[in-house]
Amino acid sequence: MAPHGEGSDAQIEEHPVSSILIVIAMQTEALPVVNKFQLVENPHTLFPEGVPWVHYHGTYKDIVINLVWPGKDLTLGVDSIGTVSASLVTYASIQALQPDLIINAGTAGGFKARGAGIGDVYLVSHVAFHDRRIPIPVFDIYGVGLRQTFSTPNLLKALNLKAGKLSTGDSLDMTPQDEATITANDATVKDMEGAAVAYVADLFKVPAIFVKAVTDIVDSEKPTAEEFLQNLAAVTAALDEAVTQIVDFISGKCLSEL
Ligand code: ADE
Repeated sequence: MAPHGEGSDAQIEEHPVSSILIVIAMQTEALPVVNKFQLVENPHTLFPEGVPWVHYHGTYKDIVINLVWPGKDLTLGVDSIGTVSASLVTYASIQALQPDLIINAGTAGGFKARGAGIGDVYLVSHVAFHDRRIPIPVFDIYGVGLRQTFSTPNLLKALNLKAGKLSTGDSLDMTPQDEATITANDATVKDMEGAAVAYVADLFKVPAIFVKAVTDIVDSEKPTAEEFLQNLAAVTAALDEAVTQIVDFISGKCLSEL
């Protein structure tokens, strides 16, 4: 996720960010952002017929904003959370929209031992997986899938966000093995999509940033699922506010100014 042109001699003329792709996994997280930017659902789907993925779009302060969420599972009717759906919808959206920047926004579990509290919003510096255990040389590193996110030091400074590392896995709960890897990943927050979105963004060299709001404290006595559901609506408001501030900050700026 290096900036466009980094590492090559080609001088690519920079322009203000004009197209943002927001990837959000849950409808409850997505709808406040859709309403805030007055996005409308695209009835002519970008996506192959039959998939549940949903695309909203609109223009805000001269930026074309596309928001996608993977929709409801076709059989069970629940949000299609997790890495598989996130990867697919990110892939299809990049192909169709060629965004300047991806924002993956969502909720996360936080570690109080590392300073996280309910409602805190993190701008993520690194992502990695914690449930891809492959104890064979080099495959082990591939499994962890550590990636640095697109660096936005000015954005971090300007907004009242915390900085931290994110660890991703396909479970809401945390096994002792997951916990050991999350600790090795030096993560403060834990989600179910981030590292997968980062993988796809990296494949296509699209800069990506990750904004995660804490709904539950993983290293506490409270059952995670209960705490998550209890705090989801309130914390989503904090997430929505952060995404708005981020887009306001980006408006009129080039990637190198973020
Ligand atoms: N999203 C919100 N809370 C989470 C948790 N504890 N683990 C993974 N994803 C989450």
